Amino acid sequence: MNDMPITEGIFKYINEDITSFHMPGHKNNKRNFKELQKIQDNLYKMDNTEVPGLDNLHMPKDIILKSEQNAARIFKASKTYYLVNGSTSGIYSMILGTVKPKEKIIVLRNCHRSVYSACLLGDIKTEYIYPKVSSLFNIGVGIDINEVVKVIKENPDAKAVVLTYPTYYGTCADIKKISKEVHDRGMLLIVDEAHGAHFPFNDRLPKTSIELGADMAVTSLHKTLPSLTQTAILNLSKGVDDSGIGFMTSLFQSTSPSYVFMASMESSLNIMENQGKLLTDEMIDEVLLFKEKMKNLKSFIVMDMDYLKDDFVYDMDSLRLVIKSSFGGRKLEKILRSQYKIQVEMSDLNNIVLIVTVGNTKEDIKKLYEALYDIDKKYGYLNKINDYIIQIPKAEKVMSIHDAYYMKKRKVRLKEAKDLISCEMISPYPPGIPVILPGELITPEIIDTIISAKENGIQLNGMEDMQGEYINVVSS
Ligand SMILES: Cc1ncc(COP(=O)(O)O)c(C=O)c1O
Repeated sequence: MNDMPITEGIFKYINEDITSFHMPGHKNNKRNFKELQKIQDNLYKMDNTEVPGLDNLHMPKDIILKSEQNAARIFKASKTYYLVNGSTSGIYSMILGTVKPKEKIIVLRNCHRSVYSACLLGDIKTEYIYPKVSSLFNIGVGIDINEVVKVIKENPDAKAVVLTYPTYYGTCADIKKISKEVHDRGMLLIVDEAHGAHFPFNDRLPKTSIELGADMAVTSLHKTLPSLTQTAILNLSKGVDDSGIGFMTSLFQSTSPSYVFMASMESSLNIMENQGKLLTDEMIDEVLLFKEKMKNLKSFIVMDMDYLKDDFVYDMDSLRLVIKSSFGGRKLEKILRSQYKIQVEMSDLNNIVLIVTVGNTKEDIKKLYEALYDIDKKYGYLNKINDYIIQIPKAEKVMSIHDAYYMKKRKVRLKEAKDLISCEMISPYPPGIPVILPGELITPEIIDTIISAKENGIQLNGMEDMQGEYINVVSS
């Protein structure tokens, strides 16, 4: 093959010399962690299979088990599974390992699409808790405990409650209170903690959901720790029956799991256990300084607890930056990349989201501030843009995700799909939260949200028609 478009594409990006505020958390090892350098230097030698002496991820007894036990100690879990297929495989494993077909779970409606995919795969019924949307940032940030209690009481037959903690935006709900309510009714608390792998390493960060009472949680090491993409762990709390979950982790992962990935997980945890407090302190201080200076710029609002007082947000990840811009998130993302060589994690119409990790340097944050200062001066305060609501307009559920997906379908124009039942799960990406699920009635608000996402160049994950013109609906 003479043409190598993927390799060329990656090298083109590398050569741009971009400052990364996106995943993966190692930021291409610009801080030269020696533990990562060792993997880098020996990549092809370390890439191996389950020969004697190297244990087996699918039935760990030796080196992999020891490493998983070390991770369990760090995360205060009773058991940890290493995952090489991302948090996605962990979310499938937690849900399908504990809930049977036709049983019901209660889901926070702004969960990642992998939660709904698990329900599709396992023919699991769903009821929803809707998140509290911040009117300032226009994104789902909090969970009202009264709403949780109400939905639990209305659905006493549900087996589990599935929540995201922290959200993509770094906001944290009151898991301690929620877990008490969930457990009082004999349900399990399953947490998608994909964005919280760094929490155990500094008291200035929120506590982990396991510490706060969750029964199980999955966390992506590649998002906020210096670990390779696709690496994640699944943590169990004491007393949780692990038989189904263990089986499912094996079912949803490659039978040829990468030793490079496993070594990378172990190395990132080693770095964090030895230096995590110091490194995170340094970055938290730098972010605090950044936030303080940003108060003087007219075009931006940086998310902080002060702005979320009425939104049922209990805590925040101090290393996640959400910046609302007067001329919009999408435009700001483009300006930062094209004029300042800075790449953010994601943007919506209002905000940009940046992931700061121990892989970043103080200079990165300074560079970000200088860029925003310059943009503020150049573009000044523009008028407030039209708010684009990406966060889940409420939809009426008429059948289960599984049943709707497998119904006889027909294709209709999206603009003419009002009151029809969707067969598609459409998730503007990022953040990957579905605006419509199979089995939900399509409303004008949902149509507008999808069109608005499309017009703003946001990918519509899960939409069969890549042009975004047509949608599959249940054929009546
Ligand atoms: C909240 C949340 N959960 C789960 C996932 C899936 O994680 P992974 O990419 O590690 O499979 C993501 C991915 O972005 C996410 O944002």
